[in-house]
Amino acid sequence: MEPRVISGVQFSSLPTSYIRPESDRPKLSEVAELNNVPIIDLGCEDESLIIKQIGDACREFGFFQVINHGVPKELVDKILRVAHEFFSLSMEEKMKLYSDDPSKTMRLSTSFNVKKETVHNWRDYLRLHCYPLEKYVPEWPSTPSSFNYCSEVRQLGFRLQEAISESLGLDKDRIKNVLGEQGQHMAINYYPACPEPELTYGLPAHTDPNALTILLQDLQVAGLQALKDGKWLAIKPHPGAFVVNIGDQLQALSNGKYKSVWHRAVVNADKERLSVASFLCPCDTANISAPKSFPAEGDPNIYRDFTYAEYYKKFWSRNLDQEHCLELFKN
Ligand code: OGA
Ligand code: NI
Repeated sequence: MEPRVISGVQFSSLPTSYIRPESDRPKLSEVAELNNVPIIDLGCEDESLIIKQIGDACREFGFFQVINHGVPKELVDKILRVAHEFFSLSMEEKMKLYSDDPSKTMRLSTSFNVKKETVHNWRDYLRLHCYPLEKYVPEWPSTPSSFNYCSEVRQLGFRLQEAISESLGLDKDRIKNVLGEQGQHMAINYYPACPEPELTYGLPAHTDPNALTILLQDLQVAGLQALKDGKWLAIKPHPGAFVVNIGDQLQALSNGKYKSVWHRAVVNADKERLSVASFLCPCDTANISAPKSFPAEGDPNIYRDFTYAEYYKKFWSRNLDQEHCLELFKN
């Protein structure tokens, strides 16, 4: 079957190309709700406390939430509104933007990597490059015009990278310097209500290939789950919060101290769900190499040095739920 978008289409049953084999289903009844994803208040005046909380969260879990993060509520509300509007466009309008070529800088697509995967995922997504904005905004569909959101999220991402750098005992700017002039992509994910949510995923288990991800979750409908100690846990949306997770590049740069954790999105029978993921990505030529001098440690580097371009190419040449892509870069 030719893959095409699923938003706005009525399905009475799940098409077979979305049905996972029995051994690879979400087993939703076994998923516990996670009440203790750390919620870090970035409005707190004690910067050293923030750094400590971020460090602890990155070491223990790889996921945390931030509140009082400085991204104005109006911009958050607006991007969600615009996203809803976009996915309610007619099929004809949407298909004009459809592409399954990952190298495109603006495209509507579906599932994950439709050319490579054997089973599809119950998701449509609009993927936009967002840095530099002046370069990419002209090609955006006119509806999602929320570029202020992108610049605010970028500033937040830098602030978090500085805190992460300090939490590792490095200079504040060290991580940012290694990552170079960072790219920024946004995936506006739309997960339609699904006739059989037990049989499929919105996104199967994956780690993010970039440096840092800042996710805005729909407040009404949960769906994000992360793997902790071998168990899938649901990350409940928290009002006003972003969910932040460490991507593969920060795992590599921290020499494995901070984890790029497996996560997935599940779907549900009654309601559609939206999420807006902002990805900060090293520049293509960034040389990803863990500092040789982590204080008082001298651990050998787990991963060989590589450029981000090399990594990204490898990531997209695979299926989403294969082994951790970083495994392929071990020394
Ligand atoms: C992603 C992602 C989770 C979600 O886009 O990489 O993990 O809840 N999204 O949509
Ligand atoms: Ni992800």
